[in-house]
Amino acid sequence: MNLDNSKVLVTGGASFIGSHLTHALVERGASVRVVDNLSSGQLSNIQTYVESGQVEFVQADLTDPGIAQRAVDGVRVVFHLAADHGGRGYVELHQAACATNLALDGMLFRACHQAGVEKVVYASSGCVYPNHLQTDPGQLLFLTEDMVGPPCDADNMYGWAKLMGEMTLQAFCRDWGMKSASCRYFTVYGERGHENHAVIAMIARAFVGQNPYVVWGNGEQIRNWTHVDDIVAGTIKAAENIDDGTAINLGTMERTRVIDAVHEVLRYTGHSAEIELHPEMPTGPMNRVADNSLGKQLLDWEPEVRFMDGLRRTIDWYFSTKDKNTVVSVLEERLTER
Ligand SMILES: NC(=O)c1ccc[n+]([C@@H]2O[C@H](COP(=O)([O-])OP(=O)(O)OC[C@H]3O[C@@H](n4cnc5c(N)ncnc54)[C@H](O)[C@@H]3O)[C@@H](O)[C@H]2O)c1
Repeated sequence: MNLDNSKVLVTGGASFIGSHLTHALVERGASVRVVDNLSSGQLSNIQTYVESGQVEFVQADLTDPGIAQRAVDGVRVVFHLAADHGGRGYVELHQAACATNLALDGMLFRACHQAGVEKVVYASSGCVYPNHLQTDPGQLLFLTEDMVGPPCDADNMYGWAKLMGEMTLQAFCRDWGMKSASCRYFTVYGERGHENHAVIAMIARAFVGQNPYVVWGNGEQIRNWTHVDDIVAGTIKAAENIDDGTAINLGTMERTRVIDAVHEVLRYTGHSAEIELHPEMPTGPMNRVADNSLGKQLLDWEPEVRFMDGLRRTIDWYFSTKDKNTVVSVLEERLTER
């Protein structure tokens, strides 16, 4: 599938990842409609394209009657990123809100089928992987796509809803021939990221000069933070290459301990502070890293941004665009909200 000159919809296109995807699709010559209720997305993320007429922006809630139908009208490919979603603090403390994604996804996929949309590309998550596999940070574990299966044990209501979204799309493909691809994003970071995700929270704490400097968990959690540019490239390749609802990991295979990321943030920002570990705060799985060989095989996709390089770029962005007094006043709330 070639996306040039195609009419595409990006739901949640004013979000962190959605706005980067919107930019990339415009650059490729797609005609982009964004539907976003701006519950966590920001119009400023895509303002330039909206003002120049390159993006059609509709502010609307996709769960309101008739909105999903209007959103997909005349569209060839749908990139579905709208979700009630936040970082670790949010997904652990807001189960009911995350459960509304079941309705949001169901309504949108049904509208896509009824309108004859050619393909749906779904922003799924590493949260679909069973929690019980990810408990030992000492294990050299790389999650392969086939590890999601009975017994399913997804990560909070947020993870279950993403898993149901993937399964719904696979059923729609099997039974009704609607093409789709699900992209399992792993802890995404980069410019325009939000403080409710770990990397931006670490940077924000250094930015405001926090001391003691708080780290959630015991610092031993392992993650494969993946730069948003790589996520966007993989998402577009999934749109071009996958038809049958296959779910694919988009994540690096770099294994980084939270405490090592913290040390680099402190070193690079020149902030010296006493580190205070808070194991009682939401921590998530102890060992979550993707295997990305299926992405290489099916998409010819590989992450290009090394974590430490992307981290420094993100720090530079944060420090050059944020106002210290504003961050001080909102930081605590942002850690668990969206
Ligand atoms: N950031 C990550 O690390 C990560 C990891 C895995 C998956 N994802 C998924 O990627 C997608 C984008 O996430 P993000 O991190 O860019 O930020 P995000 O959570 O802010 O993005 C969600 C977007 O959807 C919009 N939205 C929410 N409910 C809506 C509704 N009912 N109608 C219309 N718009 C609605 C929000 O305003 C926002 O712009 C989400 O689906 C998220 O679950 C993100």
